[in-house]
Amino acid sequence: MSSLNPYRPGRFVVLEGIDGAGKSTQLQTLVDFLEADGRRVVLTREPGGTEIGEMIRTLLLHQTMRPATEALLMFAARQEHVLQVVEPALLQGRDVVCDRFTAATLAYQGGGKGIPLCRLEGLADWVHPGLHPDVTVLIDVPPEVAAQRIARDNRQRDRFEQEDVEFFDRVRATYLRLAATAPTKWLIVDGTKSAEAVSTEIRNGLNRLLQVPEFQ
Ligand SMILES: Nc1ncnc2c1ncn2[C@@H]1O[C@H](COP(=O)(O)OP(=O)(O)OP(=O)(O)O)[C@@H](O)[C@H]1O
Ligand SMILES: [Mg+2]
Repeated sequence: MSSLNPYRPGRFVVLEGIDGAGKSTQLQTLVDFLEADGRRVVLTREPGGTEIGEMIRTLLLHQTMRPATEALLMFAARQEHVLQVVEPALLQGRDVVCDRFTAATLAYQGGGKGIPLCRLEGLADWVHPGLHPDVTVLIDVPPEVAAQRIARDNRQRDRFEQEDVEFFDRVRATYLRLAATAPTKWLIVDGTKSAEAVSTEIRNGLNRLLQVPEFQ
């Protein structure tokens, strides 16, 4: 018999961090953690996660455009993703693990590229009213460390990965500020540690932050 509890709503867990922080490396840790609890998990990413979203992702990663165009395309992709993937899964009681969400737009297009956060928050409120991650895991690394990792990988860099250290300093600072405003919703993990140590910190942190009160 399935141990799934249909009365327990799905949980929405997001991974954030600058390019090269180690998000993709830790995705499976998150999935394993939630599945060990008997949950069915949908793994997805932004921008992307739908057919239109993946087409928009290709534009975003490779075409030169203004920051406002970038932000609007992020939210266009997000609208499809939320309606087609995230909300249906959560309503079916599945957990959703997402590689980046709205915090990334606040950090990159807001902190990084100077779009006022209040404009982006207005778009978020329009595109996904009432939908907020239960926990956002921020894998925090200095831009120099992330840049070394990307250089080591020796692969073609996308438009964002070509930005300079100052840009990523602003993105990182914005992530840290967002996390500080909602400590019960954010888990900050030191991403300079080994991948195993980061996994352990994520598991311990999720245990604490996703605890379900006994009466539920
Ligand atoms: N804790 C770690 N210590 C050392 N290297 C790591 C660690 N975590 C990931 N890496 C390595 O750093 C590189 C980037 O990791 P990964 O692709 O997971 O980052 P990412 O945050 O998903 O980046 P992007 O935003 O570009 O998708 C990879 O080569 C990965 O093996
Ligand atoms: Mg990645």
